[in-house]
Amino acid sequence: MSDFSNQTILVTGASSGIGLASAQAYLDKNAKRVYIVGRNAQKLELAQAQLGERAIALVADVGNLAQLEQMARKIRHNGDTLDVLFANAGIAENNLIGSTTEAAFDAIFDTNVKGVFFTVQSLLPLMKLGGNIVLNASVAAHKGMQNLSLYSASKAAVRSFARTWCNDLKAQKIRVNTISPGVTLTPILQTGLKMTEQQIADFSRYLQDVVPLGRMADPTEIAAAVLFLSSSAASFVNGVELSVDGGMTQI
Ligand SMILES: NC(=O)c1ccc[n+]([C@@H]2O[C@H](COP(=O)([O-])OP(=O)(O)OC[C@H]3O[C@@H](n4cnc5c(N)ncnc54)[C@H](OP(=O)(O)O)[C@@H]3O)[C@@H](O)[C@H]2O)c1
Repeated sequence: MSDFSNQTILVTGASSGIGLASAQAYLDKNAKRVYIVGRNAQKLELAQAQLGERAIALVADVGNLAQLEQMARKIRHNGDTLDVLFANAGIAENNLIGSTTEAAFDAIFDTNVKGVFFTVQSLLPLMKLGGNIVLNASVAAHKGMQNLSLYSASKAAVRSFARTWCNDLKAQKIRVNTISPGVTLTPILQTGLKMTEQQIADFSRYLQDVVPLGRMADPTEIAAAVLFLSSSAASFVNGVELSVDGGMTQI
């Protein structure tokens, strides 16, 4: 059921973390081609080398509409259409209400909200009839985690997009679902949230209490759920938010 033979897939934010693990998982399940998208060309090149020749790197900032349109043109030029789109690219930064700058607000919303919206809109003409889209939200949309008001609101917007789009795209028979990962051990903890090794270790101890499974996720565990949502095994699953958080938001 979760075989992606002959399928062409695009994953944004695929140079590390959840996106890279998902790209690898699609390839492991026989995807014909996986387009991997990110801003940093060097990081993408390393990811492409790791994934092999069925992965194609496309450098684009999802917050930049012109770059998204150029990306769509390249895929069209290759003669490809998309079976699956995983709009995963996102950034996380702390913001303190009282001292948040306009630039910090724009940075989060440009990538996490505008980026997801225009990724989907730009690639929609390339989506196959009956294809499907997975959006990456977060547990943060459901929890009032301190100093994460912008990130959390951006992810609530993402979840809302899936609700509307599964209705908007019914003529194309495109399913749209959301994955909501819990805390996952990826570079975002250090690069985005600026956590030190010690802070990550302390956070892990805290999660032993607040997560029923008592730990962070490995990116491959999120990827497995993304593959389920985009597979034929989920052929009647539409508009849902699948929490993959060890139970954190369920208690
Ligand atoms: N890790 C967690 O605990 C967690 C929990 C819930 C949800 N999530 C969500 O999962 C998604 C992936 O995050 P991750 O944890 O795997 O972090 P990550 O390892 O930092 O990956 C983020 C990816 O997104 C790319 N990216 C960031 N901004 C971009 C932009 N404007 N345009 C194109 N690509 C961009 C990054 O590449 P470049 O730097 O090259 O652009 C990178 O490939 C995010 O949406 C995040 O919010 C993560």
